[in-house]
Amino acid sequence: MTSKTLLLSLLLITTSRLLSGAGATSFSCSGDDRCHSLIGYIPPKPTTIAALQSLFQINPRRSLLTANSLPISTPPSFSLPSHSPIRIPIPCLCSNATGLSNHRPIYTVRTHDNLNAIARRIFNGFVTIREIADANNISDPDRIEVGRRLWIPLPCSCDEVDGKPVVHYGHVAAEGSDLESIAEEFGTTERVLMRVNGIQDPTSLQAGQILDIPLPVCSSSINTDALDSRLLLPNGSYTLTANNCIFCSCSSSTWQLDCHATQGMSKSTCPVAKCGNLLIGNTSTTSCGVSSCSYSGYINNNANNFTILTNLTTPTTCNRNEKVPLNINMLIMITIIDANNV
Ligand SMILES: *[C@@H]1O[C@H](CO)[C@@H](O)[C@H](O)[C@H]1NC(C)=O
Ligand SMILES: *[C@@H]1O[C@H](CO)[C@@H](O)[C@H](O)[C@H]1NC(C)=O
Ligand SMILES: *[C@@H]1O[C@H](CO)[C@@H](O)[C@H](O)[C@H]1NC(C)=O
Ligand SMILES: *[C@@H]1O[C@H](CO)[C@@H](O)[C@H](O)[C@H]1NC(C)=O
Ligand SMILES: *[C@@H]1O[C@H](CO)[C@@H](O)[C@H](O)[C@H]1NC(C)=O
Ligand SMILES: *[C@@H]1O[C@H](CO)[C@@H](O)[C@H](O)[C@H]1NC(C)=O
Repeated sequence: MTSKTLLLSLLLITTSRLLSGAGATSFSCSGDDRCHSLIGYIPPKPTTIAALQSLFQINPRRSLLTANSLPISTPPSFSLPSHSPIRIPIPCLCSNATGLSNHRPIYTVRTHDNLNAIARRIFNGFVTIREIADANNISDPDRIEVGRRLWIPLPCSCDEVDGKPVVHYGHVAAEGSDLESIAEEFGTTERVLMRVNGIQDPTSLQAGQILDIPLPVCSSSINTDALDSRLLLPNGSYTLTANNCIFCSCSSSTWQLDCHATQGMSKSTCPVAKCGNLLIGNTSTTSCGVSSCSYSGYINNNANNFTILTNLTTPTTCNRNEKVPLNINMLIMITIIDANNV
């Protein structure tokens, strides 16, 4: 075979896979749930934080930085290389047993665009032509007008896996990768990936295939009635919560949410959040053992007033004698100045 015919047959194979809509990309999601989900976007050419924020309509920009463990001070012009995955936060809406990005992103068709390039190149194959056409009621996918605004329905899920909360991550299988090493890289198992993705034969994995990877998250002592009760952080990410007054991160060394008060990150006047005389995130060692003060979420009292909850864990052996309350919830009043836009 000459290299020309080889190239041609490769093109034909690629095209026929495209046209058959190989691998619907949707992820299953039971219930009528909403959550934050992620996709591992691989920029086809070098890009910037600002360009990704605009392509995926990420608001606030901070959520793109925190998902990727980039410092909050990272400028919009910060450049990102092509071909290396960046985590894009996706607002997920589940209905009809399927999770889709909730009417975002909206892509405006430009001159020389076609649905194939939009689906395969610009959006990495996270959607198929058919899925874009169906979501936008396009009767003839070969004819789309320049300037038309298209909803790109990206796959996502809010489902728990094995009874545990996770963050679902859409992953493009790289050339030559295998399910076992992908599982290991993301802290899960081949068996879970096969079950979640309905894969019977792990050797059937193809380059470019979209996988639903349930990322394990750090556990926390956040109360179920707190406004940030669904704060789920996978390994290697951080977030600002409680009106930017609290910084929490997750590392796979402990799988325990690690929070402390922010200093100068919030435009609000942040209180000193403590349990008694221990600051959030601090521990103190006494003869009885180790006491620690952890973050337990925040609740709103009214329009300009919120409460930060903390949880003091004391060594059980000394509680009886010293009568140290096991949990102290601190009430802190502050005025919230617009702190949600970085
Ligand atoms: C739900 O999914 C089924 C099967 O895929 C489909 O026939 C039906 O039209 C869908 N309903 C809605 C409201 O999307
Ligand atoms: C979808 O498109 C067809 C034909 O263009 C039109 O008749 C129909 O009303 C459209 N449906 C919606 C929901 O926009
Ligand atoms: C956790 O993140 C670190 C740093 O990004 C990485 O080296 C490690 O492989 C990850 N571990 C798991 C289980 O995801
Ligand atoms: C409490 O934590 C802060 C940072 O969160 C640290 O600077 C300080 O030294 C800690 N204090 C004690 C007593 O551990
Ligand atoms: C804040 O809320 C608490 C509890 O609802 C209330 O007692 C307090 O007066 C409020 N403070 C301000 C400044 O609104
Ligand atoms: C405080 O933390 C302990 C240990 O993690 C937990 O058992 C308890 O339920 C927490 N209390 C509250 C109010 O969150």
